[in-house]
Amino acid sequence: MNILVVGGGGREHAICLAVSKSRHTDKLYCAPGNAGIASVAECVPIGAMEFDSLVEFAKDKAIDFAIIGMDDPLAGGIVDKFEQAGIKTFGPRKNAAILEASKAFSKDLMKKYSIPTADYNTFFDPKEAVDYLKTARYPIVLKADGLALGKGVLICNDFEQAADGVRVIMEDKKFGDAGNKLVIEEFMTGREVSVLSFTDGRTIKIMSSAQDHKRAYDGDKGPNTGGMGTFSPSPWYTDEVDDFCKKNIYQKTVDAMAKEGRPFVGVIFFGLMLTEDGPKVLEYNCRFGDPEAQVVLPRMKNDIVDVMEACVDGRLSEIELEFEDNAAVCVVMASDGYPVSYEKGFPITGFDSFDNENTFCFHAGTAFDKEGNIVTAGGRVLGVTAKGSDLTDARRRAYEATENISFANSYMRNDIGKDFA
Ligand code: AMP
Ligand code: GLY
Repeated sequence: MNILVVGGGGREHAICLAVSKSRHTDKLYCAPGNAGIASVAECVPIGAMEFDSLVEFAKDKAIDFAIIGMDDPLAGGIVDKFEQAGIKTFGPRKNAAILEASKAFSKDLMKKYSIPTADYNTFFDPKEAVDYLKTARYPIVLKADGLALGKGVLICNDFEQAADGVRVIMEDKKFGDAGNKLVIEEFMTGREVSVLSFTDGRTIKIMSSAQDHKRAYDGDKGPNTGGMGTFSPSPWYTDEVDDFCKKNIYQKTVDAMAKEGRPFVGVIFFGLMLTEDGPKVLEYNCRFGDPEAQVVLPRMKNDIVDVMEACVDGRLSEIELEFEDNAAVCVVMASDGYPVSYEKGFPITGFDSFDNENTFCFHAGTAFDKEGNIVTAGGRVLGVTAKGSDLTDARRRAYEATENISFANSYMRNDIGKDFA
């Protein structure tokens, strides 16, 4: 098959590597891709939101199967566009991608179908939100309704912080129209776990668990980022937690979406908090996590195209997902200053030592310069990943692998997976 992957980060690199190993793949394209993806796919300079150009390209190259990695095009209805053009596409349609694109929608869905999550209220008017906050319990969580690059969540310790947050989100519109509605949510405490799943709209199959490190600095300090590293599996995701979630969260979510006339086909990412009262949903995403995909996909034994096609064809029940009995750790090498401000354009060396079987160098923000050298081109630059017999072994191998890579202004956390290894 001719396959097109849409996106250009570390997650799409992990997807492209898996697709390149599939027995179904004859020719693989990625739009827009990046300098690392270029080693496994032909990169096409079309942006993920340029739907008409993407459809035209897909028709021109006789694409048999398209895979959408990113949330923005999914929320914008790229799957509907591709399907209208007769192209088989993996990912939720616009009316299902709302599961991630609107926090108010997902909270209302969970409430209606008794799926465990934090208590909340939704506000359209900043004055009403501030009035509510006067008598609320702190800390409290404010969430811009729409997509905000993972930055639309504010944890506020007192009324002043919260009132300021309402102003920033709803009046200054820091996150644009994402702030037209505001969800105010009870603060929960516990361990966080990321669970990725495949679903065909009826059947849901769970992948191995993972854990992200969202803060910029060691010890979970500093500003929130897109993710500074991950490991898989999570030792906190026990059989007991799995049983609970299978009974109360996963299938219920898929059934709820189907009942609402929004059948979900693709990947549902469950952001879970393991609270004292049991697992609760923090958030849903409608795609693989980044950098969760970088530790989960290398451990998956299945041919990824088999699984994705089964989702689109509505026969996921025939598939048995299988994962290696090992662990993986991904350490993000970033540009110093990320996520606030940073310089780009520095040459990177050291790619030769990765075998793409046990050690992987997934590119997140890289590009080719005029001479064809690979240079830094983003805040998160690389996701250096290694598999090992257990977390301790994988962690040691991942950090050892980072020593092969060199670029100016590089920064990484030194404690990815440390508490658990
Ligand atoms: P989200 O984008 O919804 O995943 O939120 C980003 C991060 O904010 C989560 O990974 C949590 O660390 C934190 N967070 C979100 N909602 C809550 C909550 N209700 N209680 C505590 N922390 C939260
Ligand atoms: N790593 C979190 C996310 O992909 O949303």
